[in-house]
Amino acid sequence: MKLVAVNGSHRGRAGNTAIMVDAFLRGARLAGAETIDICLAEKEIGHCRACKACWFATPGRCVLADDMSGIAQALTGADLWVWATPLYFDNVSSMLKTFIDRLMVFGSPGWTRDEAGECRHHTSLAPTRLMLIANCGYPERSHFQVLSHWLARHARNLGVAVAGEIYASEGALLRDPAEELRPAVAGFLRSVETAGREIAAGLEISAQTREKLAQPFIPAEAYIRGVESYLDALLKKPLPARPAENQSCPSIKQS
Ligand SMILES: Cc1cc2nc3c(=O)[nH]c(=O)nc-3n(C[C@H](O)[C@H](O)[C@H](O)COP(=O)(O)O)c2cc1C
Repeated sequence: MKLVAVNGSHRGRAGNTAIMVDAFLRGARLAGAETIDICLAEKEIGHCRACKACWFATPGRCVLADDMSGIAQALTGADLWVWATPLYFDNVSSMLKTFIDRLMVFGSPGWTRDEAGECRHHTSLAPTRLMLIANCGYPERSHFQVLSHWLARHARNLGVAVAGEIYASEGALLRDPAEELRPAVAGFLRSVETAGREIAAGLEISAQTREKLAQPFIPAEAYIRGVESYLDALLKKPLPARPAENQSCPSIKQS
């Protein structure tokens, strides 16, 4: 099985999303998958110009000469595409969305209808399955409602099946959690790895793994108190010339 992950975090490999992607790909490799890990923050990808030259003038070829052509090659023939993103204003990051718009090159002008009679474009390139990994700053999992709904629509538009979705709220704890939170975060990442193994074996994420993935690292009230004291401390200090790369909140502790 060939699996391609595309990480749309603007913080790239230093971000919280990357920690989840790493764990997932580790698990997939344990199940024998060939994995490709693409970080959009390291790429130049221009906005789709909506010129549709890739459909009419030069079918299958985009007018933009940037890193999308290499990514398109990597996506070709993959069994699974994994989109990964931080939640930005209840949606995918703009970097991930810019990349997704460029998937136009795999479509064609003609329409088809799915089993429910809904129209969509023919696509020349579709993996058998698509999944989503995301994390967010707030503690409640309800913040992923839009992403979950969007994933179902996006997969249907592409004509592919949803393989699974993995979400982490309290995302600030993923990188360098306080000592007492390390077991909870490590346990979560082990479950992300298990999900990678299950998916790469051609299965769904098991009910047992999904249940573990849905557990918060820390009760919401303790997380909120920790974020508040972290922000208080930060705002009292003179502002740094540029924000720290590492957004973790070391003051968040189990209480
Ligand atoms: C522009 C922007 C918008 C954000 N919007 C939300 C949001 O709507 N809900 C939320 O819970 N977190 C939001 N966050 C927080 C990020 O989802 C969170 O910090 C996440 O851990 C970042 O992942 P990363 O380190 O991979 O970039 C936002 C952050 C940024 C920079």
